[in-house]
This record gives sequence, C-alpha cells and structure tokens, in this order.
Amino acid sequence: MIQPIFWENDTLWIVDQTLLPAEYKKIEIHDHNEMADAIKRLSIRGAPAIGIAAAFGLVLGLKPFTNASKDLFLSKLAEISDILRNTRPTAVNLSWTLQRMKNLAQSLTDAPVPMIWKRLLNEAQQIHQEDIDMCLRIAQNGQSLIPQNAGILTHCNTGGLATGGLGTALGIIITAHKSGKNIHVFVDETRPLLQGARLTAWELIQENIPFTLISDNMAAYIMSSGKTDAVIVGADRIAANGDTANKIGTYGLAVLAKYHHVPFYIAAPSSTIDPLISSGKEIVIEERSDAEVREIFGVKIAPEDCPAISPAFDVTPNSLITAIITEQQIFRPPYYFK
Ligand code: MRU
Repeated sequence: MIQPIFWENDTLWIVDQTLLPAEYKKIEIHDHNEMADAIKRLSIRGAPAIGIAAAFGLVLGLKPFTNASKDLFLSKLAEISDILRNTRPTAVNLSWTLQRMKNLAQSLTDAPVPMIWKRLLNEAQQIHQEDIDMCLRIAQNGQSLIPQNAGILTHCNTGGLATGGLGTALGIIITAHKSGKNIHVFVDETRPLLQGARLTAWELIQENIPFTLISDNMAAYIMSSGKTDAVIVGADRIAANGDTANKIGTYGLAVLAKYHHVPFYIAAPSSTIDPLISSGKEIVIEERSDAEVREIFGVKIAPEDCPAISPAFDVTPNSLITAIITEQQIFRPPYYFK
C-alpha cells in the first residue's frame, strides 16, 4: 500500500509529494512548524492525509512541553492547533482531527502531562488506523456502482498518497480492478499543480491499472465519445445538504457528467462531512498564489505579472451528485447529513 506518512521509532516521516513522480523521497518532520510548512506547500496533501498529519504535528509540537504544567501544556495545545488549522482552510479533516485531540486532552482531567502526551500520540495513531479502515470500507461500498469494463474519469489525487490507506475514489477504482472488472481510468491532469498527472498516474502505474492521462479541457470530448461510465472524485468538505468542495475543476466535471448522463460520484470518509454547515455557500475556498497559474514548477507559461487567480477548490452543488459513498453506506439525494 502507498503511504504518505509514517511514525517509526518515535520519528515522523512524510513522502514529499512535491517531488513526485521524479523522486520518491521521505523527509523527517521535527515539529509543528515544519508540519505546517509541509501542509502549506503540499508536500503532504489530500483531505484525510492532512488531517492525520495535523494530529501528528500537534504531538510533535507538544513534545517539549511534557514536563510543563497542565495549564501551559493545554494553552500550547490550543496555540499549536491554531497554527496547524490555519494552513489550509477548505478541508474539514484538519479541524476534525485537531478538535478530537483537544477533546481527548481535556477529558483526561486527572492524568499527569506526560501521560496526556502519550495518549495524544496513541490518538494520532488511532486516527491514522481508522482512516485505513474507512478507506477499505469506502472501497467495498463503492463496488456495486462500478460495472464490468467501465471507463472511469477521475480528478486530482485520491489514492494512498492522499489518505492513510488505500484511498477514497481511487480506492474504489483499485478494488474494482483487483476484482477483475477490466477498468480503464481517464486521469485529469488537474492544473494548476498537476496532482492527477504527477500523483494519480504514478499510483496507477504502481497498481498496474490501465489508464489514459488527459488534460483537463479534454473531459467533455472524452465523455461525449461514450468512453466514461462514471466520474468518481474525492472531497475536501461536504456540507449537511451534500454540496461538496473538491479540487478546482470538479464542479465543471459534474456539469459535464450531468449533460452526458454519466453518473457523478463523490467518495469520502465521514470525517470529511461537516454537518455544522448547511450548504456549500459556507465553505471557505483556499486561494493560493497566482504564480501557480502563471508558472508550471517554476517555468513561466504566461507573461510576467499577468493577472491570474488560483482558487484551490470549487463547490459542486448537491443536485449534480448522483451519490456520495462513505465508509457507512452509499447516500443518495436528497442529502441530509447530521
Ligand atoms: O490540494 P490538494 O491536493 O490537497 O487537493 C486534494 C483534493 O482535492 C482531493 O480530491 C481531496 O482532498 C480528497 S483526497 C482523498
């Protein structure tokens, strides 16, 4: 299984995804500031993976305070959580794991600080393990939606690199392939940062799954040719009504899928559902540096300083989503998550 994050012998490692596919390199993360930087520059990315990373980042950041008073330890927990939470605003998994860690620390009223720290480490490992299990269940739940000989279009990267386990949308695809369904994947390159071309293509090669890389503007052409039986993508935040934020370009794919009568599926763990917001209008969309659009990995592809924008995500309205696949079940519209 491809994994983006490892806790080994009291040391935390992540795979630096900015270097893939040219280089597979693990880097050690020493504290919460290094983790926050790694999340911001997308060395580790994907909603479930950054949730897990934030939990371990908090543990690392609190390590120097295991001999401090409980008051200082808890105030550092709040301070470090804020730093980690503010790295990327869209994926709810970050605040979900950090809130879970805080709740645990606050519940251990009689425990000494070194024990609270140890329990937080166990909790981060537990969050990681739960994500592995959720990916497996999402993959199983999605199987009934995948026909034999299916052409499946996907966007961004939702595989092992983006999660603790097998992946979400890609986990469904990998499992369908392994069960002998003769799958062919169309991989959107996913501009501006090319998670599809760099990461999904790399993962599909590791898994030996047939695929074709397409630039994002080819999706309508591929769908009109009748080669796609489903579009499956992941999610960064799902509102109570099913509106879903995912990588920029997802909304356009959903519109195209509706027009071409291709089912459009979201696959995500329940940790990506935010029942506290009623609709996608409340989702904050991360704005990244506009240089990401003018350049591809430092190479200028537009005139110097030409105006550009780089929203990292868009929101697909629930009316365009055929089903949402979680580890619990397949949800069909109308969506109402609690
Ligand atoms: O900016 P990224 O690469 O973190 O965006 C990732 C996505 O949009 C994924 O589709 C989403 O996080 C789900 S990953 C299982």
